[in-house]
Amino acid sequence: VTSRVTVLSALTPYIQRARAFTGWDHSSLKMRSLGGELPWNYEAVATKYASRAGRVLDVGTGGGERFATIAAGSAATFVATEEWGVNARVAYDRLCPAGIALVWASSMRLPFSDSAFELFLSRHEAIEPAECNRVLAPGGRFLTQQCAPDDWRELRRFFPRMTVHPQHDRLYPEAFRDMGYEVSFQRNDYEVAFGTLGDLVFMLMTAPWTIPDFDPQLELDALMAVEAELSRPEGIVLSEGRYLLDARKPG
Ligand SMILES: C[S@@+](CC[C@H](N)C(=O)[O-])C[C@H]1O[C@@H](n2cnc3c(N)ncnc32)[C@H](O)[C@@H]1O
Repeated sequence: VTSRVTVLSALTPYIQRARAFTGWDHSSLKMRSLGGELPWNYEAVATKYASRAGRVLDVGTGGGERFATIAAGSAATFVATEEWGVNARVAYDRLCPAGIALVWASSMRLPFSDSAFELFLSRHEAIEPAECNRVLAPGGRFLTQQCAPDDWRELRRFFPRMTVHPQHDRLYPEAFRDMGYEVSFQRNDYEVAFGTLGDLVFMLMTAPWTIPDFDPQLELDALMAVEAELSRPEGIVLSEGRYLLDARKPG
């Protein structure tokens, strides 16, 4: 039987790295989809639309990692928002040299005038459909990739306080349809394997909205139960989903 001390000492480097984490790059994490690639490529679609737009907004840009790539080589005007102060600074440092404005603001109430943008992007950031509609120009486009609201649902029985997200996979498309947008929607569900318990802890600490006040040191028993019950040869396996919503505003 693995002792709590052994588990905690294996988790410690992950906990320390998670506490220092900024930006939004999880590529060092051992976490892989067991479902292969998504059937769409969000960055490719966003880049294609950005190349045709005059003014492009990305909300909740994280450290600006993806938006910098989407904007590279395009002549459009790009603006990003970020609400978390730590990442607003990281995104500013990355985007400013590329001529991209970073505004420290919430995605729910945007400090922009009506019809200011032709393309509104949100990757894994909650949005307010009426606010998107307000800042989008007629004929403009809203493109988002979102995590499914019931991601990692297997964890709920170990952490009953896990956040219950609104059913935005239904609510967002409905809201845009109701506003007269032409809407296309795709969803893909699959399983994801975390290489070690440390990788899962790192993810839960750096996405603190998943389990409010998550503290791996205080919740070691629950984490050890997760490892014991959800481990398969591929790793610790959880259900995950992504959807792509592409909505065009009437001209
Ligand atoms: C899931 S991230 C997506 C970032 C970006 N759109 C991307 O896809 O790379 C969503 C938002 O959560 C913010 N965030 C990350 N860590 C946070 C934390 N510890 N507390 C509050 N917000 C955080 C990010 O800065 C970002 O704006």
